[in-house]
Amino acid sequence: MTGFTLAHFSDPHLGPLPAAGWQELASKRITGFLSWKRNRVKIHQPRILDLLLQDLKAQQYDHLAITGDLINISLPDEFKAAAAWLQRVGKPADVTIIPGNHDAYVEVPWAQSLGLWADYMHGSRTVGAQDTQPASFEDFPFVRRLGDVALIGTSTALPMPPFIAAGRLGEAQLSRLRTLLTDLGRQGLFRIVLIHHPPFGGGAYKRKALLDASAFQQVLAEAGAELVLHGHTHVSGLAYIKRPQGPIPVIGVPSASAAPAGHKDESRYHLYRINRTEGGWRLGIDVRGLNLAQDAFTAQGSMELAIPLIVSDTNMAPGVTTGAAA
Ligand SMILES: [Fe+2]
Repeated sequence: MTGFTLAHFSDPHLGPLPAAGWQELASKRITGFLSWKRNRVKIHQPRILDLLLQDLKAQQYDHLAITGDLINISLPDEFKAAAAWLQRVGKPADVTIIPGNHDAYVEVPWAQSLGLWADYMHGSRTVGAQDTQPASFEDFPFVRRLGDVALIGTSTALPMPPFIAAGRLGEAQLSRLRTLLTDLGRQGLFRIVLIHHPPFGGGAYKRKALLDASAFQQVLAEAGAELVLHGHTHVSGLAYIKRPQGPIPVIGVPSASAAPAGHKDESRYHLYRINRTEGGWRLGIDVRGLNLAQDAFTAQGSMELAIPLIVSDTNMAPGVTTGAAA
């Protein structure tokens, strides 16, 4: 494999909101509905998302990942509209999505909600198994093998009380994630974990945080991964999960539809260019963002990271890995 390019954007928050009756709004949805009318409608603009997709079309890339919050308050008509939008974005074989907290804002039966997007979460549940569609909210993570790259799609999305935008993976998902990462690591793949919430402690933002962030970090520190991609914060971010063999980069992007308003970043997306090197991997990151003066997306910068090749040693205790090369 000579190189692989993954495009990544997040949190498109598709609008406009479809019409909703009082019965549909008599729930946590009312808070999201009012927030949309008051603020979010000005920030999340379909026109900006269209400009992003137009720019993306002109780029060379192999696959696209979207890290959740496709919609806003989980109305049945939003799920249907997003399914139609996904078809315009690309084929399920070329696009991988994971859900965000706004895609599980309130309880909606699987078949009327995420089930409508299941083609785009198609993958194997264990290494080497047949690819299948997820069949329930618990049926995560899934793996998509794309040459030397493995995308691991997780779900942190579950209904929370009003004003809480937190997420949780849960013990069962964390346990499956550990096994998958270990098995994929033995194959020397470039493992990219997709997760909506950034995997860090809450701090001042506890009501929006991943509740089991430290357990997730522990799994990654033990089983390994080469890259973690997230959304949720609506700001650009680069952080690391510490690991004896070398830090794992954790990268977030702003909302794909965001206008330059408020205290969050305006729309950007990333292209990750993954190449094998003698000692591991070279990860090039191109940032493209909204340029209002040109009414288009333009290059905003790039960076390069060297990532060591880590191959799990099957003779060691489960989860313990060793660097195969410097
Ligand atoms: Fe979001």
